[in-house]
Amino acid sequence: MTTETFHPVRLDDYRPSAYVIEHVDLTIRLDPRRAAVTSRLAMRPDPKAGSNRPLVLDGEDMELCAVRLDGEALSRTDYRADDKTLTLPRAPQRPFVLEIETVCDPQGNTTLSGLYRSNGNYCTQCEAEGFRRITYYLDRPDVLAKFTTRVEANRHDAPVLLANGNLVESGDIDASGRHYAIWNDPFPKPCYLFALVAGDFARVEDEFVTMSGRKVALRIYVEPGKQDRCHWAMASLKRAMRWDEEVFGREYDLDIFMIAAVPDFNMGAMENKGLNIFNDKYILARPETATDRDYINIESVVAHEYFHNWTGNRITCRDWFQLCLKEGLTVFRDQEFSADMRSRPVQRIADVRALRAAQFPEDAGPLAHPARPSRYVEINNLYTATVYEKGAELIRMLRRLIGAESFKRGMELYFDRHDGQAVTMEDFIACMAEAARRDLSHFFLWYEQAGTPRIAVYEEYDPEAKLYTLTLSQETPPTPGQTEKRPLDIPFSLGLVGPDGKDMALTLDDGGEVHNGVLELTEAKQSFRFRDVGARPVASLNRDFAPLRLIETPVGDDDRLFLMGHDGDPFNRWDAAQISAKKLLLSLVEGVSPEAISGDVGKFAEALGHALDDRSLDPAFKAEFLRLPDENDLFDAIDADIDPDSVHNACRELRRALARSLLGRLERLYDDYAVSGAYTPDPDSAGRRALRNAALGLIVHADDDKGPRRAFEHFAAARNMTDMIAALSVLARTDRPQRDRALASFYETHKDDHLLVDKWLTLNASIPSHDTIRRVRRLMNHDSFSIRRPNNVRALLGAFANLNPVAFHAPSGEGYRLLGRAIVRLDALNPQAAATLAGHFSNWRKLESARRTLARHQIERILEAGKLSRDSHDILSRLIG
Ligand code: TRP
Ligand code: ZN
Repeated sequence: MTTETFHPVRLDDYRPSAYVIEHVDLTIRLDPRRAAVTSRLAMRPDPKAGSNRPLVLDGEDMELCAVRLDGEALSRTDYRADDKTLTLPRAPQRPFVLEIETVCDPQGNTTLSGLYRSNGNYCTQCEAEGFRRITYYLDRPDVLAKFTTRVEANRHDAPVLLANGNLVESGDIDASGRHYAIWNDPFPKPCYLFALVAGDFARVEDEFVTMSGRKVALRIYVEPGKQDRCHWAMASLKRAMRWDEEVFGREYDLDIFMIAAVPDFNMGAMENKGLNIFNDKYILARPETATDRDYINIESVVAHEYFHNWTGNRITCRDWFQLCLKEGLTVFRDQEFSADMRSRPVQRIADVRALRAAQFPEDAGPLAHPARPSRYVEINNLYTATVYEKGAELIRMLRRLIGAESFKRGMELYFDRHDGQAVTMEDFIACMAEAARRDLSHFFLWYEQAGTPRIAVYEEYDPEAKLYTLTLSQETPPTPGQTEKRPLDIPFSLGLVGPDGKDMALTLDDGGEVHNGVLELTEAKQSFRFRDVGARPVASLNRDFAPLRLIETPVGDDDRLFLMGHDGDPFNRWDAAQISAKKLLLSLVEGVSPEAISGDVGKFAEALGHALDDRSLDPAFKAEFLRLPDENDLFDAIDADIDPDSVHNACRELRRALARSLLGRLERLYDDYAVSGAYTPDPDSAGRRALRNAALGLIVHADDDKGPRRAFEHFAAARNMTDMIAALSVLARTDRPQRDRALASFYETHKDDHLLVDKWLTLNASIPSHDTIRRVRRLMNHDSFSIRRPNNVRALLGAFANLNPVAFHAPSGEGYRLLGRAIVRLDALNPQAAATLAGHFSNWRKLESARRTLARHQIERILEAGKLSRDSHDILSRLIG
């Protein structure tokens, strides 16, 4: 084990900054190896925070050249500098100007945090703590300052010079070929929202007129030649701007809004004030190269970053423990936006799928943490599914609990009261409590208690008295550092579906009303008695979904098939199918033979068939019915001793059985839903493609020879990237020569498009065979792969570990070794990316014993490998701990 210990940061230790920064004047002279930064900070002590405290600035990985106080050079005895801080023990107790000169190395910066180069262009990533890699600063989100940024560079290398805010001035410096631009951002901001972009970019321009009639210039910057791939992102941006005005009353505030797209980026995108920086896979799209999924993702990420302008930038976080204040709320907002742009039920299904795929396992494993944690070791590791996705669910539950009207008033109060401030989760909830005129302290527990609550439901029906009683109990399992759990305040939606398929009226026997079908659970166990219930209803539980697990319900197999056909809540209609399929899969995993459950499979197939025939359902929704639970869903559903091969085989067997019994219908769907004409990414034609491709995905399982042949035909006939990728994903899971022929032909055609090469890497990594380990090793040495590119790493290694249980969990342990070695190599270059890969080991404890031992050894070997980053060490030690 490494002897190094990394100390945690604790919420309880929060103290306001002793100094404030009123204005920042930055000059950045760009150079590939020696970028010179001069920072002029207009500061003063904050009397509220106590006087005569030392001034401690954060800084990392820089050369310190000079420090001046009010114009006077400081000598080495006036300050202390180490590898993390610059300290002035006796800073003036009056306003002063501190000037700092430093040099950093953008080209050598492989961490993609701070100032770095991507394809020869300069860009920055400052969230969470990257600004301290550019200059010494009070790098904390509650220090808000106005920034003026002067950027200088060689005009030939970097014709475009961008920073936050409005352009003040630009021009040539001298005859040397260098030029400059000065940008001014009038809105005080924390330094994590600082951005600089410089290099050779082309731009696409548009304009937006805000609700008050102001004109805003919109610009997207991309590598020259890619302008024709920006139109969808631009259209999405304008829709997001309009939507935020209409739904939240939020208007954009600067005269210009810019987006710059780069190929090397640790995450999806970043909401820097007035200058968002994007991973270019969330900007670039044209019909021939992007899938429907790409178009959907671009629309939602562009919207997400734009929405941060109010939820994140105008109102920001007091400290990083409050991350879900901006992220949970902004994810909620982008989910609502997407629901309004497309189908609301399909969006809800996609969001819950994402939550169950990532957040549920996280909440049940060694990395579980509250949405608002009280300690962390490395802030980069807090950008989790729990903070983002569960954070969004908490906002959604809150709205369900207090009602849409109160929620709307609460949001208005929040924007009004806290504009320009750095606040806490408590501040947000206080606005909601005030608007709803109720106490929300019990609800707040959701933010502090980790783990997914388990709900058991029992029913009792008395036909004579026409009384129907539901008893619900809740329990949250222990999580690391939190063994004792309290009951949560849960707004629980339900309906009672009568034999006619219609919802019954919900009247409580004590005369109480059930508002909007929502029961409020507050205790470990509660009963609700409904009256005038003329026939035994089928309970439709947890409608529209709250983040909990129903572990025990009175809903029998036939009831569930009934709900699949009749539930008035579209989400639950879909979920009834998912639960039915999962039950069948779990029997297969337990070793029950396919023959033994063929009756149940038949009934399920029949119910699926009815749903497919239902004319009231749109194709996109039907496609979701056909997408059955996968290996990861089963990993989440099984607590211990998982054999990944039997999980994989169960998935195949159920698909084969369903494909055979629905074959005629599926083939008809496949034929009927062909989309003719030129490709457009609109929801209707995307929905038709989704249904057709989902049908294909099942059809191939009916016959091991005909299936791959059919998929290959689909590949050969594909006229758009959606059909092409759908065919390839199906082929990747078959074991016939067509598979490698199709993959090779795809690579030949698209090898110059890095986004399509990433898709190709993922397809290769997902072939369910032990041989894939060798394939992935080979691809790591391929010209088209670089371990320095997070997108490549995610596409190849992330997919291998997350989408391919057969290969990753090969009984030899070779899959673990492959990932382990990659983590060690990557950790020396990009700790944040390495830590993300390390997270793929998080379910090791649930494996059967031989694999459990192998995985554990691999984790220990990485920890022993030498000097590991704080990022990776934090993750791996929690996995073992
Ligand atoms: N705030 C960004 C978002 O959610 C997240 C992000 C982008 C990020 N880049 C990062 C977080 C780098 C940590 C490190 O939109
Ligand atoms: Zn965000």
